[in-house]
Amino acid sequence: MTTTIAVTGATGFVGGAVARALGGSDAALRLLVRDTSRAPEIPGADAYAVTYGDREAAVRALDGVQTVLMVSAAESADRLEQHLTFVDAAAAAGVEHIVYTSFFGAAPDAVFTLARDHFATEERIKASGMGYTLLRDNFYLDFLPSLVGEDGAIRGPAGDGRFAPVARADVARSAVEALAMPQDHRGVTYDLTGPEALTMSEVADILTEHRGSEVRYHDETIEEAYASRRRWEAPDWQYDAWVSTYTAIAAGELDGVSIAVATLTGREPLSLRDHLAAGE
Ligand SMILES: NC(=O)c1ccc[n+]([C@@H]2O[C@H](COP(=O)([O-])OP(=O)(O)OC[C@H]3O[C@@H](n4cnc5c(N)ncnc54)[C@H](OP(=O)(O)O)[C@@H]3O)[C@@H](O)[C@H]2O)c1
Repeated sequence: MTTTIAVTGATGFVGGAVARALGGSDAALRLLVRDTSRAPEIPGADAYAVTYGDREAAVRALDGVQTVLMVSAAESADRLEQHLTFVDAAAAAGVEHIVYTSFFGAAPDAVFTLARDHFATEERIKASGMGYTLLRDNFYLDFLPSLVGEDGAIRGPAGDGRFAPVARADVARSAVEALAMPQDHRGVTYDLTGPEALTMSEVADILTEHRGSEVRYHDETIEEAYASRRRWEAPDWQYDAWVSTYTAIAAGELDGVSIAVATLTGREPLSLRDHLAAGE
């Protein structure tokens, strides 16, 4: 029997890369997207309109699917509720295995506030009866260049803490392996990291070297961090999420290099330097 794999987030980076990679495989491919007019063109793939909060649409779209990639949703006040609805819908539809893009150090008391929602999503997946593979992604290294302000400074309360950022391309490649051979990765949680643990000062040094102009790291106090972000209008949970991306690093919760990307994909993960060399 041909396996049917559903890929969510196919209009985005990770889901799109996974969908394109699976497009050439023996599996039948279903793209679950919020807007089918933006679904990538992949020969043989069908697109279904699904938002995570819409249980009925999700159950319909997942009917007959064995394996699903669940890309975590965009940040929103009800993101966790949407995640839980989608997990329940997948189980109700008879999905056998779910691969979820979680977060490094996901825990109920994680400093990074959104890592708590990832933990709650993981728990729902574990309780669902479906087979699962959890990909706990460290911070995406693709976004590090965009942390630099117009004044050439990265600002945030990360102190001397280390983190091990991972390229989204490596997350996608790892997900493809788990989706293609779910039986080999059943019940496994992988920490997906890049090849090195860096401080924000070291990130600034690497960006300086690449750009040829100085990038500095300014270690803000927590008060400074909230104040500097208040120039963007946002709900309180969003400020907490933004600031805690840095305080989680300061607390050491993002530290630790894993070999999971190499184990899963058979190639070494990209470093920040590799990513920059390929074009910022
Ligand atoms: N580890 C990190 O540092 C880090 C950083 C940023 C984000 N993330 C998480 O990693 C995920 C994947 O990253 P990415 O770079 O591929 O993100 P991306 O390019 O923004 O793509 C996200 C995808 O998820 C879809 N989506 C968002 N909210 C949804 C919802 N409520 N229901 C159904 N689909 C939804 C989007 O659909 P539309 O095209 O319709 O918006 C898009 O296809 C992100 O969604 C986010 O949860 C992690």
